[in-house]
Amino acid sequence: MMKDDIKEVLFSKEDLDKIVKRLGREITQTYQDDELYLVTLLKGAVVFFTDIIREIDLPVEMDFMAVSSYKNGTCSSGEVKIVKDLSEPIAGKNVLIIEDILDSGKTLSYIMNVLEQRGPKSIRICTLFDKPERRTVDVQADYVGTQVPDEFIVGYGLDYAEKYRNLPYVGVLKPEIYSK
Ligand code: IMP
Ligand code: MG
Repeated sequence: MMKDDIKEVLFSKEDLDKIVKRLGREITQTYQDDELYLVTLLKGAVVFFTDIIREIDLPVEMDFMAVSSYKNGTCSSGEVKIVKDLSEPIAGKNVLIIEDILDSGKTLSYIMNVLEQRGPKSIRICTLFDKPERRTVDVQADYVGTQVPDEFIVGYGLDYAEKYRNLPYVGVLKPEIYSK
């Protein structure tokens, strides 16, 4: 059972629902009646994305991008590579990046650099989780669901070696799972 690998539940389904609703309201207020171009980072942010789009009361378009930075470990390699790029140009658009977790910041700082060069009207970041203690690159999110301690968490889209993404809650993985 997947739950046997979880040391502690940090955010229940209900906690996540409250956080996502609050973020949706904040985003709706900022952009007023403007159009939004949501850029979701595959795969981790997908679960969060499908929930938050229904809390944003604005006309939105959506696109997806995949980058690789983590190889089956819990630490960033520092190397970021675009595996799947956006399918349309973003020039003149209000881009909002939807990310699951901001850790070292390497992934988002790389993506911000790439996307800024394409001439969007605006570009902001919405991350569900933020681990500020782990930051090695200067990048800040405009919308943060909640801060989390420096522990490896899984569920609600977040994985360890591609597993646990389908847990409906977010929990701390037992360290013996990734030290095996
Ligand atoms: P960064 O480039 O170090 O900021 O890493 C961001 C990416 O690392 C996220 O999109 C996640 O895929 C992954 N990541 C960072 N911390 C965790 C965690 O605690 N659990 C699962 N994935 C994580
Ligand atoms: Mg990710």
